[in-house]
Amino acid sequence: MEKILITGAAGQLGVELTNALISKYGANNILASDINAKSAEKFQSIKFIPLDATDTKRIAEIVASEHITQIYHLAAILSAKGEDNPLFTWELNMKSLLGVLEAAKNYNLKVFWPSSIAVFGKDTPRENTPQNPPAIPSTVYGISKQAGEQWCNYYAEKFNVDIRSVRYPGLISYSAPPGGGTTDYAVEIFYEAKEKNEYNCFLKADTRLPMMYMPDAVRAAIELMSAPASRIKTRTSYNVAGVSFTPDELTKELKGHLPEFKISYTPDFRQKIADSWPTSINDQVAKTEWEWTPKYNLARITEDMLKNIK
Ligand code: SER
Repeated sequence: MEKILITGAAGQLGVELTNALISKYGANNILASDINAKSAEKFQSIKFIPLDATDTKRIAEIVASEHITQIYHLAAILSAKGEDNPLFTWELNMKSLLGVLEAAKNYNLKVFWPSSIAVFGKDTPRENTPQNPPAIPSTVYGISKQAGEQWCNYYAEKFNVDIRSVRYPGLISYSAPPGGGTTDYAVEIFYEAKEKNEYNCFLKADTRLPMMYMPDAVRAAIELMSAPASRIKTRTSYNVAGVSFTPDELTKELKGHLPEFKISYTPDFRQKIADSWPTSINDQVAKTEWEWTPKYNLARITEDMLKNIK
């Protein structure tokens, strides 16, 4: 029987992944944790523990006392917010990952850890970005994810830790807001479109970025974690593609539902980050090794977001 701890459970990915894990393994086998103790109210049906993910001793204690067998380690500071405080972002993203990897080594845990398209940067081919291109990240978040991937691979090779990871593109969802990423416009735009019928975008109209709808993102994590270990040959992190589009293309799609919708553009510091990232992702390795396939295109995402946001 699996017993699963989730860190950063109250975040954009955490809320939905936690619910999917409850459906798969049962409420008694899922333990949610987050730094914000108030998040307890989001998790009525399961046990919730307030946890600072950099407290590596506490992680080990919880793993031992709760008989944890898997960790989904989601706590992190994202690309745009991370630039406000680079050293703290490094500290949080790395210390928490190393604590989880140590616990995984000592207690024989299986781990899911999200990496990101932010690992790519200077020298990376931006179109149809391959699995292992040269990459010099432009943000401290990207540096922490790139270094984290190497640590994951190291623990897998050296200590046989069963760690699995995907490089998520921008995630689009309506259950919990994103936490300060460069791709956040693609979520904000839906809320502002519904509320005010207009949106001022912080990226230029033609900025093409890889994105993924949350049901695909959750399914990627669960399918990767369920795949037989013998098929998982990549222990850094897998490229996974969803859909690539620009703010202008999303606007055209939105206008199909809200003909009066108006967009304006005031690019800020996030433009430079976006310009260093891929425009589209080649995920052939994930397709071959564990049969990854995305299901949501831009039309389906737009329709579903507009239907579900309040
Ligand atoms: N959505 C994330 C960000 O923009 C990418 O991992 O930071």
